[in-house]
Amino acid sequence: MSRNFFGLMRSSAPPATEAPDAIGSERAAPPPPPTMKQDDAASAGVHLDPNLEAVRHDFTEEVDMALKLRGVSAFYGSFQAIDRMTMPIPRNRVTALIGPSGCGKSTLLRCCNRMNDLIPGARIAGEIEFEGRNLLDPTVDAVDVRRRIGMVFQKPNPFPKSIYENVAFGARINGYSGDMDRLVEDSLRRAALWDEVKDELDKSGLALSGGQQQRLCIARAIAVQPEIILMDEPASALDPVATLKIEDLMRELAEHYTIVVVTHNMQQAGRVSDYTAFLLAGEERVGRLVEFGPTQEIFTNPLDQRTEDYITGRYG
Ligand SMILES: Nc1ncnc2c1ncn2[C@@H]1O[C@H](COP(=O)(O)OP(=O)(O)OP(=O)(O)O)[C@@H](O)[C@H]1O
Ligand SMILES: [Mg+2]
Repeated sequence: MSRNFFGLMRSSAPPATEAPDAIGSERAAPPPPPTMKQDDAASAGVHLDPNLEAVRHDFTEEVDMALKLRGVSAFYGSFQAIDRMTMPIPRNRVTALIGPSGCGKSTLLRCCNRMNDLIPGARIAGEIEFEGRNLLDPTVDAVDVRRRIGMVFQKPNPFPKSIYENVAFGARINGYSGDMDRLVEDSLRRAALWDEVKDELDKSGLALSGGQQQRLCIARAIAVQPEIILMDEPASALDPVATLKIEDLMRELAEHYTIVVVTHNMQQAGRVSDYTAFLLAGEERVGRLVEFGPTQEIFTNPLDQRTEDYITGRYG
C-alpha cells in the first residue's frame, strides 16, 4: 500500500500564518517562491508543503513517525535561522540532515530535543509532535524531552570520570534503580565499545582515543534509554577507521532507536541514512528545507536542481 506521509502531515499542519501563539511564534514572513507548482508536483508524484514549498518524494515504506515537524522556525534574537520546516522523522530509521554550513542543521537538531532553549535569546515557533504531544509546548518538561531524545556532539565530550561512571552517571541522576553493572555493560555493548574497555572500566573516559570517546558518549546517551538519538557530525573529528566504526554503529542502533544525523560527508549520508533532508539558506541566511525523501532517491534522482548541485559538490 502506498502511503503519503506528507499528505497526512499536510492535512493536519496549521498554515504558518496561523501558528499557535502559545509557543511564542512570530507572524511568519510570506512564503518563499515555489520551486515547483502544486499541479506539476502532483503529476510528478511528489508533494509540496503548503508552508514552504519543499519538494518531497512520495515513498511507500510502511513506517511510523518518531517525530513530525510542522512549520518549525527558530530565531536567535531578531535573526531567523530556520524557516517553517515541515518533515517527518521515521521511527527506527536513520535520517540525515545535509546542507552547506550555516543552513541551520544544528539548530534544527537542537530544536528536536529543546536544547535550543538553553541558548539565551533563542526562540522556536511551530510544532514538533512526539508521542501525540507538541514537545515545544512550554508545559512539556524539557529535561524529560532531553532524556528521551538524546544528543551526541561533534567533539566527543566524556566527563572527567571513569568509563563506568560516564555511562552510569545519567542513569543514576534519572533515578535508575536496576542493576547498574548490567546497564553499563549493555550500553557499552550497544555502542560497540565493550570489548575494548571491559577490563579497564575504572580508567578515565578522557584516556580513550577520540573514536572510543565518541562511542563512550553514545553509550552514555543510550544508558538513559532514549527513544531518539540526535547526532551532530558525530564522526567529523575522527580518522577514517573510527568513522567507519561510528557509521556501522549507527546502522546497528537504528534497530532499536531513531537516529537523526547531521553530516557534511555525502558518502557518509549515502552509506548510513535511510532518509535525507536537504537544507539550504538563501541570500538572507534563513535556512529552509529544500527536499526530503528516501536517501537513494535524493542521491540518484533529486527533484530540485539545488539538491543535485549540492550532492554533486557544486555548492560551498
Ligand atoms: N547561538 C547562536 N546565536 C546566534 N546565531 C546563531 C547561534 N547558533 C547558530 N546561529 C546562526 O544560525 C544559523 C544556523 O546555524 P547552525 O549552526 O544551525 O548551522 P549549521 O547548518 O549547523 O552549520 P555548520 O554546518 O557550519 O555546523 C547561522 O547563520 C548561525 O550563524
Ligand atoms: Mg552545525
